[in-house]
Amino acid sequence: MAEARHILVTGGAGFVGATVVRRLVHSGHTVRVLDNLTTGDRAHLEGIDAELVEGDIRDVAALDAAFAGTDALVHLAAAGSVVRSVEDPVANFDVNVVGTFRVLDAARRAGVERTVQASTGGALIGDATPPVDERSLPKPISPYGASKLAGEGYAHAFAKAYGMRTIALRFANVYGPYSARKQGAMTLFFRAIHEGQPIILYGDGSASRDYTHVDDIARAIELALDTDVEGGTVLHLASGIETTVAKLAQLCCAAAGVPDHPIEHHPKRPGEVERNFASYDLAKQVLGYSPTISREDGIGRTWNWYVENVFSS
Ligand SMILES: NC(=O)c1ccc[n+]([C@@H]2O[C@H](COP(=O)([O-])OP(=O)(O)OC[C@H]3O[C@@H](n4cnc5c(N)ncnc54)[C@H](O)[C@@H]3O)[C@@H](O)[C@H]2O)c1
Repeated sequence: MAEARHILVTGGAGFVGATVVRRLVHSGHTVRVLDNLTTGDRAHLEGIDAELVEGDIRDVAALDAAFAGTDALVHLAAAGSVVRSVEDPVANFDVNVVGTFRVLDAARRAGVERTVQASTGGALIGDATPPVDERSLPKPISPYGASKLAGEGYAHAFAKAYGMRTIALRFANVYGPYSARKQGAMTLFFRAIHEGQPIILYGDGSASRDYTHVDDIARAIELALDTDVEGGTVLHLASGIETTVAKLAQLCCAAAGVPDHPIEHHPKRPGEVERNFASYDLAKQVLGYSPTISREDGIGRTWNWYVENVFSS
């Protein structure tokens, strides 16, 4: 095993955090979570040997206390909704830009140089011809995408100005267990199927995304903690496979055993990119990352998780 660390995970009670914290604890690391539980849930970490501190990443005193005794950071806390960022750009800026700046600055003050932060692929790059990669020019079309780009800017600046080993990982669309509080397409499709309601597709169904299982993302985060990379590195974490929303709906129906479930089309929403999938070649080269979970297997397992943990209660 790599060196055992004391890791602060911001947003560790959220969807991605639930799997990341489990993985880090399982690997023998000591984990403290800082989360204000806005979209996260205490229950996500039940039975896990990790300390949960309820607090806000914009609160400098809470950050200083949370960093005490730690030597690495995984920064996941964020306002993660593209749609909500369009409705309220100020709130999004406050959590994602001010919050991320304060997290990195507190890491600097605490002498924590090994940091990994969640960024985003699609929303940050904007409408580019896929597959996108690290050479694609970022042109965000939502406040959320712009906020993640600002976070990457600070990570790069802190690497160069203060010698921190920052790394930003641009996640594709993540799916998997503990996502019941999310408003992502798969969650909404599974709920519609469970409730016997039609699946709603925005636009004609040709919009596409790159769906990556949360176990693959968590493995990449651990690799990013352990690998000696240059500070300021940015990597796309993706499956490399383009899935249209129409295909996703079909895969979700197949996973649930209802291939003929009804589908309804509604108008496209602003701020959402049209087509997106990403190349993970650089992450493979730098971290040794490749996705291990196929769409069919991952979506099937996620449906089973919903049946056992969400739809049964
Ligand atoms: N889920 C995806 O498909 C996806 C894709 C790309 C990037 N990301 C990024 O990955 C990270 C994790 O996303 P997620 O899907 O787990 O979202 P999530 O909303 O489930 O998790 C975010 C966590 O941060 C916490 N949080 C929010 N604001 C906070 C604040 N001010 N102070 C402290 N804690 C706060 C929430 O309570 C929650 O537990 C985010 O940075 C998100 O932008 C996610």
